[in-house]
Amino acid sequence: MIKRIRVENLEVGMFISDFNTPYLSHPFLPNRRRVGGAGDIDRMLRCGMKEVMIDTSRGRDSSKALGLYEVDRQVEKDMIEDLQGEDEAPALAPDAIPLARELPKARRVYQDARQVVKDQFEDVRTGHPVDGEGAHETVKDLVDSIFRNRNALLSLSRIKSFDEYTFNHSINVAVLALNLAVHMGILDQELQRLGVGAVLHDLGKVRMPDGLIQKPGRFSDTEYEVVKTHAAHGAKLILDAGNLPKECAAVPMNHHERYDGTGYPRHLTGLKVGKFGLITGIADVYDAMTTNRPYQKGMPPDVALRMTYQWAGTHFHPIYVRKFIQCLGIFPVGSVVGLDSDEVAVVVRQNRGELLRPWVRLARAPNGAPYSPLFDVDLRDPDPRGEKPFARSVKGVLDPGRCDIDVHQVMTSGGVEDSPQAT
Ligand SMILES: [Fe+2]
Repeated sequence: MIKRIRVENLEVGMFISDFNTPYLSHPFLPNRRRVGGAGDIDRMLRCGMKEVMIDTSRGRDSSKALGLYEVDRQVEKDMIEDLQGEDEAPALAPDAIPLARELPKARRVYQDARQVVKDQFEDVRTGHPVDGEGAHETVKDLVDSIFRNRNALLSLSRIKSFDEYTFNHSINVAVLALNLAVHMGILDQELQRLGVGAVLHDLGKVRMPDGLIQKPGRFSDTEYEVVKTHAAHGAKLILDAGNLPKECAAVPMNHHERYDGTGYPRHLTGLKVGKFGLITGIADVYDAMTTNRPYQKGMPPDVALRMTYQWAGTHFHPIYVRKFIQCLGIFPVGSVVGLDSDEVAVVVRQNRGELLRPWVRLARAPNGAPYSPLFDVDLRDPDPRGEKPFARSVKGVLDPGRCDIDVHQVMTSGGVEDSPQAT
């Protein structure tokens, strides 16, 4: 059985099944291991780990370890109670054009941006400077799309590709960071600078020895120290470009710093991490957690969001976490949800200020049969029979693996905005 336990309560002989922490901020790869000695526990505490998952079928159990399901439901309940009544960014203008019209444009913007980042990595690797103008234009296109319709790029950032992780990740982090920044009232030049830093936040990885970043096994302590230098390398590359504002360099420099001082490279604390570092730190970890990689299965967005919520005040600034959840919704795009109509659906976009009532794409009927075509419904729609306030409500989040839903397929097969009657 998988249980959660505080790191200080770990005992030698327990089997850690998940470190429950942002992947690249700990040196214990791979992500599963037996606790070998007190030294392991000390290192985990030094990395800022608070809680880990243990598998009691493969190692020792403890009365101090709690069942995962109970812990998850409690966190979900706390998060909903804490955030559901909160007003979303009041200054945020309504979307200028509908999602369906923006999506094709956003897709082109996303693909172009990915190509620009790929070219930048290749240029820098072969000794050329960063193309500041190219990065600037790319971010302008991303920002314009977000202001036309903020759900379009956000939903594209959920459709993960197994290929070219670094380039997709760079754009996803920029999209998440820009959305969060807009929610926080950051605009114009500052938004542009944040975006440029975000698309280039991992550029310093080109200075790493060949194969190190892709290494599937555990980093040695020495290797981990080298990995950490990608932050400063990235900042220097931006400063050396000569045609980029120096503020952009704060993103690569600080995106691995943590609010509680457990990050790197300078172990900054609190607001010293800076707005750009605090924003991109959350975006970076959230995207990394939700993406499949050869050595790590991506977690569903709602699970990643709950973990982000739990790190408010430790890894992340609590206000930034609240804004991030308001921005993504309590059921982020890509979450699989069970409805009170007994249908199964995938969240496809958020409704402003309605964290619990997003648009969903109905995938399965109450009898379990797949819908064809797939219908998009607005969970704000009232019950046509007037027997309850809404036609459909989320009953709970489901594990896509357990209910046999291919989220990627559902999200890429456009829904029809004309729903079957709720039963
Ligand atoms: Fe990084």
